[in-house]
Order: sequence, then structure tokens, then C-alpha cells
Amino acid sequence: MNILLIGSGGREHAIAWKLAQSKLLSKLYIAPGNAGTENHGININLNISDFSSLKTFILEKKIRLVIVGPEAPLVEGIHDLILADDDIGDVPVIGPVKRGAMLEGSKDFANNFMEKYNIPTASYKTFSRENLKEGIRYLESAKPPYVLKADGLAAGKGVVILESLEEAKSELEDMIGNEKFGKASQKVVIEEFLSGIELSVFVLTDGKDYKILPSAKDYKRIGENDTGLNTGGMGSISPVPFANDEFMDKIEERIIKPTIKGLQAEGINYKGFIFFGLIKVDGNPFVIEYNVRMGDPEAESVLPRIQSDLLDLFLGVAEGNISRKKLEVDPRSAAAVFLVSGGYPGTYEKGKVISNLDKTMDTIVFHAGTTKDKETGKVITNGGRVIALCSFGNSMLEALELSYRNAAIVDFDGKYYRKDLGNDLL
Ligand code: AMP
Ligand code: GLY
Repeated sequence: MNILLIGSGGREHAIAWKLAQSKLLSKLYIAPGNAGTENHGININLNISDFSSLKTFILEKKIRLVIVGPEAPLVEGIHDLILADDDIGDVPVIGPVKRGAMLEGSKDFANNFMEKYNIPTASYKTFSRENLKEGIRYLESAKPPYVLKADGLAAGKGVVILESLEEAKSELEDMIGNEKFGKASQKVVIEEFLSGIELSVFVLTDGKDYKILPSAKDYKRIGENDTGLNTGGMGSISPVPFANDEFMDKIEERIIKPTIKGLQAEGINYKGFIFFGLIKVDGNPFVIEYNVRMGDPEAESVLPRIQSDLLDLFLGVAEGNISRKKLEVDPRSAAAVFLVSGGYPGTYEKGKVISNLDKTMDTIVFHAGTTKDKETGKVITNGGRVIALCSFGNSMLEALELSYRNAAIVDFDGKYYRKDLGNDLL
């Protein structure tokens, strides 16, 4: 079967790498992909926001499944457009319809949903221009640290956590009054600060049943010991050592099941990944955020651990029979370490030649911000997060050691990576 995969990051390379192992796959197209996805399929320049080109492509290439990697097209309603079309409406899409994607596309929607279905999360209140003054008073009566979240998608930058009341007040005014994050911050959610250790849990659901994928921990900050600015993710480890059976049972009973039931009760036929961004507080799981796609960099350590055919699991989602599929997981640990461009997440240069990709050993090289130089054909950097190296081990430390050995080998001008992944889990 021919497949179209949308996206260009490390997550998409990991999905492409995994799909390429499936006997069910004929042709894989990746739009737009990167220098790594090219090893598993055909990269295409397709403007997916232009529905008529998307439709023409799907028809011409006889695409029978569309997999949406990132959240933005889902929040914009790509699944709904395909579903509503007379000619391609029968082509299944992995990724929810617009109303389902609101779990990530609107923090206010997600919080109301969790409140309605009794899913544990931080207490919150939502403010906009109409009640901005009330928002200021709310902050004055709240305890620090103050958690302010832009309601809509803000490229991972919409959450601001502040210790000082004065800063929090001016941030709220900036977000709402000056639309700091554009339309995304016309509404702002102020949340109670939860203190604990975070983890990511994923399900793949056909709307009725689900499979729980391996847990993972990602490392968001640029600096060691979780200091400095937030990034798209500096690496990930799967499984999470503290996510034992007892804790995972709590997550399933208190969070996963009520989420699936809630979506059904809302009449949302959700097909795809649900990413639960969780925090463990006094032994209990709370939801920090929902995402409606696989995590990145979590995909780079979670997908390699899945031994079952990922395409077959996707077909289970499409056909509504995921309960009949088997999910087999490699019991070993996997660790993905990201090599990033010097200066990231601030300004950085692109176009640096990446060397020694062929000298890595016992590791999987996932590309994120890479492309091929048009003249020389060499692989060059094309983003902040460049390459993820994922290795296996009988323990987390063994897996990390292998990834670090390879992180020292692959090279480009300005390369940086965190050397402390996993230290917080020892
Ligand atoms: P982002 O991935 O940009 O949504 O960043 C969200 C991050 O902010 C989370 O990973 C947490 O570290 C932090 N965060 C969000 N909400 C809360 C909360 N209610 N309490 C504590 N930390 C939070
Ligand atoms: N790892 C966090 C994310 O994918 O947003």
C-alpha cells in the first residue's frame, strides 16, 4: 500500500524508518521529509495547506493512508478536509479530526475537557481581553510560581512560568493585551503549579480501543541539569524507570480510560496518537498537557522499541480493530541523544557539513534538521535540532553510553549535546 507521511523532523524519520520495515508497504512518500527520510521513501515538495494539490497527489499516487506527524495540520483540520471530500474521503488519516485536535490546539478546551471527565490536572482559570483585570486580581491572590499558558498553538513557546508577581502580571498583559503570541494568546490559562517529575505516555487509538505505547522521558532544556531555555527536546529515554506497573495502572484508570470515554461522549471519532504529558506528584499522575501526535524526541526512543509492524497497527486504527492487533515491545532500554546546532534555541547557522554519519556503530541515526547540499550532495545541517542517535542497552545507562559514544563521532561545526541525560532518573 502507498503511504503519505507529513512532516520533516526526527519523529517523521523514526516513523518512516519503522514503516519501511513493514511487508505491507509499497511506496512511502514524505512531505517534505529530510535527508534521513530519503533512505526510506521519496521526499516530495507538496504544499499540504493547498488542498487541491494534496488531493491531486493522493489520487495520482494512489495513496491509501495519510499519516500526519506534526500537530499544526491537524489543528487546522486536514483530516476533516480529506474526510469530507467525495473522491478521497475513504483514505484513512492517522491523526484526529479538528475537534479532537483541540486537545492540543486549545489549552482552555483541554482543561474544560479534563474537568468535565474528572481527569486529574492542575486547577486553572481562563482569561481574555474582557476579563483581563480579573486575571490580574487572580494572580494577586494566587501563589507563586505562576503558570501562564497561551490558549492556542505557539510553537512550543506558549508556556511561561514566573516566580515574581510583577513579572507574571506584565506577562499576562503582554500575552492578552499585546497578543504576544498572536491569536494563540488572545486567551490565557493561568494554572496551579504542579511540582514533580515529568514523563510522556502515548496511546494509539481507533476511537474505541487503544494500545499503550512504551513510556518515555524527554529533556526539554538546553543546559545540563535542566537549566537554560526550552528547546524542542534534547533527547529521550524509554522506558521511564519510575513508571512501574502500579503507576502505569493509575495512569490507565485515571487518565487514559476517561480520556477515551470523554472523546466518545463528545462524539469525537478520534483516530491517531494521544500524547499524555504527565507529572508525578506524591505518587499520583496529573496531566500537564495533551498532544495529538507522537512526541519528538520521544518517537526516536519509543518507536525503535516497538517490535510489531507499525503499519499494521495504523491499519488497526483506520479500520477500527486495534483491539485485535498485538503490540510487542523490546524489553531493553533505548536512549536518544540529540546533536544540535551551536546557538540553538537562539540564533544559529545552517548549512554545516555533517561528517562521520557512516562511522556510527550500534546506533540508529535519526535525522531532524538536515538536508542535502544541492551541489555537492553532502548532508548538511538545516535546523536547530540536527541528528538524534538512538541506542539500545540492557539498562538505561548502557543505552546512553552507546549513544554518547556515537555522539562524539558524528560531527559538524558548532555541534552541541547534553551529557547529563538520565542523571535525574538514577
Ligand atoms: P510546553 O512543552 O512548551 O507545553 O512546556 C510545558 C512545560 O511547562 C511542561 O513540560 C512543564 O515542565 C511545565 N508546566 C506546564 N504546566 C505546568 C504546571 N501546571 N505546573 C508545573 N509545570 C508546568
Ligand atoms: N517532546 C515534547 C513534544 O513533542 O512536544
